Amino acid sequence: MNDPGSGLIVTGLRKSFGALEIIKGVELSVAKGERHAVIGPNGAGKSTLFHLITGRFPASDGRIELDGTDITGWSAHQIFRAGLARSFQVTSLFPKLSVFENLRCGAMRNFGAGVSVFRLLDGFRPLAEQAERTMEALGLTHRRHVAAGSLAYAEQRALEIGVAIAGGAHTILLDEPTAGMSRTETERAVALIRKVTEGRTLVMIEHDLGVVFDLADRISVLADGKVIASGPPDQVRGDAAVRTAYLGAAAEVLT
Ligand SMILES: Nc1ncnc2c1ncn2[C@@H]1O[C@H](COP(=O)(O)OP(=O)(O)OP(=O)(O)O)[C@@H](O)[C@H]1O
Ligand SMILES: [Mg+2]
Repeated sequence: MNDPGSGLIVTGLRKSFGALEIIKGVELSVAKGERHAVIGPNGAGKSTLFHLITGRFPASDGRIELDGTDITGWSAHQIFRAGLARSFQVTSLFPKLSVFENLRCGAMRNFGAGVSVFRLLDGFRPLAEQAERTMEALGLTHRRHVAAGSLAYAEQRALEIGVAIAGGAHTILLDEPTAGMSRTETERAVALIRKVTEGRTLVMIEHDLGVVFDLADRISVLADGKVIASGPPDQVRGDAAVRTAYLGAAAEVLT
């Protein structure tokens, strides 16, 4: 599980927008099967880092490796095909299609080019079975016919994760999966994330430190475009630089 070269390894990653450098030499290492949280103040560059890893933005410099393969400069589509998926924005679910249909579309990735829209229309069984299994894991079976756009907010976020899982991704990136959720919804989301990412690599940006300390095996702290600390929760909690970056309300959560 922790063999060298597997998992996600980011080295010397940089990104500038015009003259402004936002990512300033990020080093990040996530072992295969690990649950890793990325935390840090607003504007630290967390989402930008995810956009670089998923190929949405090209890096200005540095290297990104996934399971021993150099994926630097790959397109978002190629990276997705290599098994790395991010939680889709709510808007990228098909709002008029049902829960089941959304998952079946997600599952298409698993079967590659062999599946055409016609096979989908045809009710190609393996796709339906994959969608069925994922729906069950999400606890959304009773909502199978409901249009994605009519689901409650927390259910939509769960479905986004499900679409990534149904596609067979082995590495999942989630950007603030519990944002905007109530305490109860957050607890449910954490349980769901734990369950559906079992045996996969998870990298998660999260502001709720309760969620972070509950879910993460390791934590990296991003501040002003650099990883200033990385390690198990207890180690990061006691790190002086992290406390400085979090001066203010959040520092108390770390005690
Ligand atoms: N396309 C862009 N062009 C110029 N600047 C950008 C662009 N995208 C992000 N930035 C800037 O990069 C910085 C980091 O933004 P980013 O969204 O990565 O932060 P974040 O750590 O995700 O913050 P938050 O916790 O608020 O989500 C911000 O100052 C932002 O304005
Ligand atoms: Mg962000």
